[in-house]
Amino acid sequence: MPLVSMRQLLDEAAKGGYGVGAFNVNDMEQIQAIMMAAKETKSPVIVQASRGARQFAEDLYLFRLIQAAAELNPEIPIAMHQDHGNSFETCKSAIELGYTSVMMDGSLKEDGKTPSTFEENVEVTRKVVEFAHERGVTVEGEIGVLGGVEDGHGAGGSGLEHITDPDQAVEFAERTGVDALAIAIGTSHGAYKFTKKPDGSVLKMDVLIAIHKRLPQTHLVMHGSSSVPKDLQDIVNQYGGKLKQTWGVPVEEIQLGIRNGVRKINVDTDNRLAITGAIRKAFAETPEKFDPRDYLKPAREAMKKVVALRMTQFGQAGHAGDYKPMAITEIAKGYANGSLDTRPSMAAAR
Ligand code: G3H
Ligand code: 13P
Ligand code: ZN
Repeated sequence: MPLVSMRQLLDEAAKGGYGVGAFNVNDMEQIQAIMMAAKETKSPVIVQASRGARQFAEDLYLFRLIQAAAELNPEIPIAMHQDHGNSFETCKSAIELGYTSVMMDGSLKEDGKTPSTFEENVEVTRKVVEFAHERGVTVEGEIGVLGGVEDGHGAGGSGLEHITDPDQAVEFAERTGVDALAIAIGTSHGAYKFTKKPDGSVLKMDVLIAIHKRLPQTHLVMHGSSSVPKDLQDIVNQYGGKLKQTWGVPVEEIQLGIRNGVRKINVDTDNRLAITGAIRKAFAETPEKFDPRDYLKPAREAMKKVVALRMTQFGQAGHAGDYKPMAITEIAKGYANGSLDTRPSMAAAR
């Protein structure tokens, strides 16, 4: 099956009351791990590549691998998404390559570090929406800034410095027409999110709920949503790693989010930990081996286990066959005739 519009995946998730995991990829084994998990759990899925991933894998290698995944798994709806696009050009190049969804992260300036102004964010996101929707491609925007830095992307600091203002979220949705909106509620990218199990003082689920009440038709996105489970930290450290103890986003908080409008949940770090733990273990236990398959196979299996568990926990498991994917050209018509318009004023008028 061809790659599917992320908007359709999220609209179906909203109807079914579940969330869809968006898993980051950089190479073939990660794509295979996701597809193994999606097949086993019968899940629709979002595969996403950061700018760093596109550079690491060389765009075309990665994109052809995703196309292979779609061809080999015709029963699984797959959306291919640009994670944290930093500019119109980045999003345009992903769309021209064939991605069915892009994130225009205008919460930061093009350097991927400096928080932008609200007006700058609106302007660049609106431009991407116009270009993408004409081609049936989904757009995720971001309002508020997450904590942490990944591969040079991020403003740094704790996740509490730029929490999303619900009034701004509503104005942003109205002025840009994004399909999905990433909000900042205290999470950070990477492993070091919280110094203890987070409570409402650091993880602002109340802000998320308030935004969903004001913007019920906009799909909410939780970034920095790895749970950083202790068992994955422990395997890394048991075999020579040096991770400091840390806490991620508890799965039950993500599930609370899903009951309140969260449809896309971004997970990268948990998979990185699973892969690294499995490789360290293989190196430590069989130092005489040197065939990469001897450690890449357990690494792929470890990631598959994490992804399958998250698919079950987010509720997407079992939903792969619920609907017939629409052609991207049909989605483009829906944007053109207004039936897919999510702006609060348009939704109110319908
Ligand atoms: O946004 C963060 C994702 O974990 C991707 O990270 O930019 O290091 O590929 P990356
Ligand atoms: P984690 O670092 O929590 O896995 O978040 C990934 C993410 O938000 C990618 O955009
Ligand atoms: Zn992110």
